[in-house]
Amino acid sequence: MYFWSVHLFILLLLAFEQCYAVKDYLFKKCGQSGFCNRNRHFASEVEGLGDKYNSHYSIDISCLDINDADGIVRGVLLKQLNDGTFVDLNFNLTLINNNDLRLRIDEANREERIGTNVTSPVTKKRYDEASKWSFVNSTSIRSSSFKHILGSDKLTLQYGGHYKTDVMLYPFQIYMYYDDNLQLVVNDRNFLNIEHYRTKESEEDENSNDVAPEESKYNAYHDDFKDSKGDTLPLGPESVALDFTYQNYTDVYGIPEHADSLSLKDTTDGEPYRLYNVDIFEYPVEQKYAMYGSIPFMMSVKPDAAIGVFWVNSADTYIDIKKHLAEKQGNDTEKLVDSLKSYESSVDKVQTHWMSENGVLDVVLFVKPTPAEVLKEYGLLTGYSALPNIFSLGYHQSRWNYNDQKDVLDVSSHLDQNQMPCDAIWLDIEYTEKKKYFTWDPHAFPNSDEMAATLNKTGRNLVVIIDPHLKTGYKVSDGVIKDKIGIMKSDLKEIYKGQCWPGESVWIDTLNPASNDYWNKQFANGTDLLKYSTNIYLWNDMNEPSVFDGPETSAPKDLIHYGNWEHRSVHNLYGMTFHEATYGALITRNPHQRPFILTRSFFSGSQRTSTMWTGDNTASWEYLRESIRMILALNIAGFPFAGSDVGGFFKNPDEELLTRWYQAGIWYPFFRAHSHIDSRRREPYLAEEPYKSYISDALKLRYKLLPILYTLFYRTSVSGSPVLKPMFYEYPGNKKSYSIDDQFFLSDLLVRPVMEQNQHSIKLYLPDDKKYYNFFNLDQVLSGEGYHYNVSAEINDIPAFLREGSILPTKQRYRRSSKLMTYDPYTLYVTIDSSGKSANGELYIDDGKSFDYLDSEDFILLNFTVENGDTQFLLK
Ligand code: NOJ
Repeated sequence: MYFWSVHLFILLLLAFEQCYAVKDYLFKKCGQSGFCNRNRHFASEVEGLGDKYNSHYSIDISCLDINDADGIVRGVLLKQLNDGTFVDLNFNLTLINNNDLRLRIDEANREERIGTNVTSPVTKKRYDEASKWSFVNSTSIRSSSFKHILGSDKLTLQYGGHYKTDVMLYPFQIYMYYDDNLQLVVNDRNFLNIEHYRTKESEEDENSNDVAPEESKYNAYHDDFKDSKGDTLPLGPESVALDFTYQNYTDVYGIPEHADSLSLKDTTDGEPYRLYNVDIFEYPVEQKYAMYGSIPFMMSVKPDAAIGVFWVNSADTYIDIKKHLAEKQGNDTEKLVDSLKSYESSVDKVQTHWMSENGVLDVVLFVKPTPAEVLKEYGLLTGYSALPNIFSLGYHQSRWNYNDQKDVLDVSSHLDQNQMPCDAIWLDIEYTEKKKYFTWDPHAFPNSDEMAATLNKTGRNLVVIIDPHLKTGYKVSDGVIKDKIGIMKSDLKEIYKGQCWPGESVWIDTLNPASNDYWNKQFANGTDLLKYSTNIYLWNDMNEPSVFDGPETSAPKDLIHYGNWEHRSVHNLYGMTFHEATYGALITRNPHQRPFILTRSFFSGSQRTSTMWTGDNTASWEYLRESIRMILALNIAGFPFAGSDVGGFFKNPDEELLTRWYQAGIWYPFFRAHSHIDSRRREPYLAEEPYKSYISDALKLRYKLLPILYTLFYRTSVSGSPVLKPMFYEYPGNKKSYSIDDQFFLSDLLVRPVMEQNQHSIKLYLPDDKKYYNFFNLDQVLSGEGYHYNVSAEINDIPAFLREGSILPTKQRYRRSSKLMTYDPYTLYVTIDSSGKSANGELYIDDGKSFDYLDSEDFILLNFTVENGDTQFLLK
């Protein structure tokens, strides 16, 4: 029996692995998801009623407590029920950091109202700790002050010189102005919906007071979705939803992770974008499916302002987007008709509707003059990317799997023989003994320390994988069970067991502080995994968490975490708690060395301690193209250290695609080649000539660019600026740049990777009238705002153009790894601006690996300028 079930499992797994198409029936569509279905229904009912709709939400003017000096408004938001009675919602509006507005709404007295109705051990209050995990320091957010005026129908707040915010008391709405221009309207369409606690009986009662006529009861207390039928939903419906209108904006960006265009699409006639961390096998491109990670942060831009909306919620979330573009002026007859039309049609706007399964309603609104300032504020709240260990900016060679230690060392020497620089060789799950993490397969890797030491001689490192699922029946999982630090079943009586790579597994609950000590011990010196090596770094995969036999390939939502929180509430941040535990363990092991951790799952805040990649892509041109869009989306959502599997994970790229992928991959902030266990070996030295030489050239170029990249990472570590900058971000004043996502800026380099088959030229958009010099042939100059056609892009060309007026530092000598380049000289590229007189740039230098830059300010920041023809290097 046991034999057959194992066999069946393996067969199923193989079938799962072999077919190349997303199994979309595994994942809930909005219509199949209780809270999404209910909220879309609610929205369409409200919209259908138009002006006849009377909102249920109003602010109780008698309870307002306004503190100008601390920038806080506290009060009660009343939700009127069918019988005219009210549910009190605690309402809190705070001005934080540099004039950012945080709105929180929670159910007052919820636990008392639930009383003994619910017997499940889950915590009854709404989850309010997403901010604890995602903010850098949720307890010490700076507050700003405002001046207020309270009228009978609205509260006006004025602050920061440029800002005015009107809080309408009935219906509850917020209007945010910058320099007297309306920017953002909160609850513009009255989609605010807080599903307050009601008993199952009340939910089912036809004459219930709790369920308003425009509400639906779909799947409120049970789940019809085939793999989720076991979900116990002990607290019933508890979703939160709200709409935001971006006034005079045309495009919205962000909310990674989705494999779609950078400028997000209108979702009116299709699925909303979903944020729910899942192991989406063979994800398609141009789609709104949930993927491995979630950052509920959306940005919008127009020439004179920019907006960020950060929805601080870690539960399953859907976002609808509706775009209204101003009607273009037509002929005179049309103008007449136009004049009769409402003002509505002459204004661009983007309307968004956010819906989360549960939690408190917590949202931070950033209105700023530029997208750079929005990101700076978002980073002030959630943290900036840590300065990476410099090796991690080099090239990473991975595959599932290198077979044994000889294989690893052979790959390393073949790279050298072919002049292909590389900083790390990676080991996927097969290095372990039967997928028991923290062990080595004793036959394949009898001497891991020696292998690591050999790599170290050429300055190379080893990166090994550790996943959160722990095979049952060995010491690491036994310890998790004994110490009671695993994710528990819904009755809290037993640890949850599910299937993953090792077969039956348990999952460490890294929300539990006790898990940190346990995790630290596994990584300590002398343990099986790391022994005494200092050049081993980590890869955390499958941390959505991926559960092969779980609903939507993940954990059941009614599992219980530390604090008795339902998994439902913390799902999207679990992956982050896992990679943060690994970060803590590496720091504990060696407090002086900057850790490196690659994570597949992430949440807002992950940028502080990890690097991400876009998971299991496919070796085809469309995925190459998608990789750039996805990485750009991450860069403007505060997580710049991002990459994609170069060459594609599934299938086998031909040599042209592989070459083009390397030529594009050198621009990824995180640059790693990786492939599936069934794919053919494709280490770059295996390519035929001339492709091999082209790939070697691309790899060498990556290393030449390291000083530029490292300086950009320094900048992001202090200001949150992207490493790869989308056109809209670099040129917010130029509306034509808003939808471009196949070219970008890396510092002053304008890059347009070739992402189409059999191309000999590309079309490049210049966003201004400056001169752009071909980075490889400074004699070729492009200028003039607009598209430039037929820019040469032969198979050995990497289209990159240096903007006039810039100074870029490079290192030109070929070395086997970044470590061996430490003392190499710098070469500056200088392009004087059109006046013929000035240029500038900067260079950041430190030891590249320790924290001395923090403790003793042991770093150099050089500012290069050419002014009036004089060259200056200034130490900052
Ligand atoms: C899934 C990851 O996305 C992939 O990169 C990895 O090779 C496999 N897990 C095996 O660990």
